Formats: sequence, C-alpha cells, structure tokens
Amino acid sequence: MEKKIINGAILAIFTVIAILSFTTTNASDPAPLQDFCVGVDDPYSAGFDRTSVIDNPQGAEATLVNVNRFPGLNTLGVAIARIDFGPFGLNTPHLHPRASQAFAVMKGTLYAGFVSTDYKLYDTILKEGDIIVFPQGLIHFQFNLGKSKALAIAAFGSQNPGRVNVADGVFGTTPEILDKVLTKAFQVNKTVIDQLRSQFSNSKHVSIDSARSILLETLSQKPKVLDA
Ligand SMILES: *[C@@H]1O[C@H](CO)[C@@H](O)[C@H](O)[C@H]1NC(C)=O
Repeated sequence: MEKKIINGAILAIFTVIAILSFTTTNASDPAPLQDFCVGVDDPYSAGFDRTSVIDNPQGAEATLVNVNRFPGLNTLGVAIARIDFGPFGLNTPHLHPRASQAFAVMKGTLYAGFVSTDYKLYDTILKEGDIIVFPQGLIHFQFNLGKSKALAIAAFGSQNPGRVNVADGVFGTTPEILDKVLTKAFQVNKTVIDQLRSQFSNSKHVSIDSARSILLETLSQKPKVLDA
C-alpha cells in the first residue's frame, strides 16, 4: 500500500516535470491577460512611412518596430518591420529566435528564401504584392533584383522577435571566437578567418583575453600520448 503511494508520488512528480519541460520548449509570447497593457497609454506610433537610411555595404536596412521602439505592443505578441532595399541590396541571411514572420513585397522584385533544418533551400522570386513566410528560427534572406529601390513590410508573431545575423553570429562576436574553433569549423586557415572577421566585427575587435586564450590553446592541444 505504502509502495503504491510512493510510486504514485513519483509518477506525479514526473508528470509535472514533463508538463513543465513541454511548456518551456514551446515557449512563445504569453497570452494576454487583459485587452492591452495598462502601463501603456498610447497604442499609436508614427514614422513608419519614413524610408530608413541604408548605412551598410549590403545595401538594405531592416527597421524592426518591436516592443522597445513601440511600447504599445507590450503583451500583445506582435511586431512589425519595414525593410528598405537599395539597388541590388541584400537583407543578409539571418534568423529570428522568437517569431515566425509574414513578409510582403510592397515595391520591387526580390529573390528570397529560407533554409529548413535539413538544409533544404526554399527560394522564390517575389513581385509587388507577393507574400512569403519565414518560419521561426530558420535562416532566411531577401535580395533586390532591381536597379531601383524596393520595400517590404514584415509582420512577426512576437513583441520581441530578435534577430541573429549568420555572419555576425560567427565572425562578429565579442570577444572573438577562438581561432581554432573557426579554422576547424570552416576548414580554412587563420588568414581567411581574419578577413571574414574584419568584414563583420563591429570595429571593436575585442580578442578573447590572453589568459583565457592561453588556457584554451593549451587544452586544445592533442595529448602527447596520442601523438607518440
Ligand atoms: C590561406 O588560405 C588561402 C585560401 O586557400 C590561401 O590563398 C593562402 O595562401 C593561405 N595562407 C596561408 C598563410 O597559408
């Protein structure tokens, strides 16, 4: 009888753990508990019609209006962006860790695509009025196929979708990822890695601190025994 109770208790604990881990792995914005956030008295914002200044070599600027820029979004689980493309401008490969996206072309013709977890590329050419989806967490990009400017509007299922650029996430980190990790990962020498880093690091060039670097270098040496 007592054993049964203990077994029951263990089962209950495991059930709770299972439910908790299920809810955390499916984390998204929580459902709102009221019509809108009481702390926010202004559900309006202006300036979304203004063309964003394109100040990068890739020639496209994504302006994300998330909850930080527009507090009215708070608790509502949505965000919006405008993406301005110069001639042949590229919105570089990136992902949004917390939201799927619907992307609509308002002006111009774009080549766009995303990559699934089995590395299949889903790509297409989008004309004015076309819409594409970019699933949460998958790498995607858009490239302006025209000599004139292009514009797209993107809607997100999170008030704070986040953005991780693929290149910056590897070659533009602070501090830099250890040379050996990158030369091994990409199967190229340090010269090539440094060249890539110079394109993507945000000019700070913070190297990994020297004590940590020496320790990591030492640890990454092959054990002498194995070399013999
Ligand atoms: C590094 O690799 C590049 C490209 O393969 C090559 O041109 C260059 O000579 C190499 N540099 C060194 C120092 O090995």
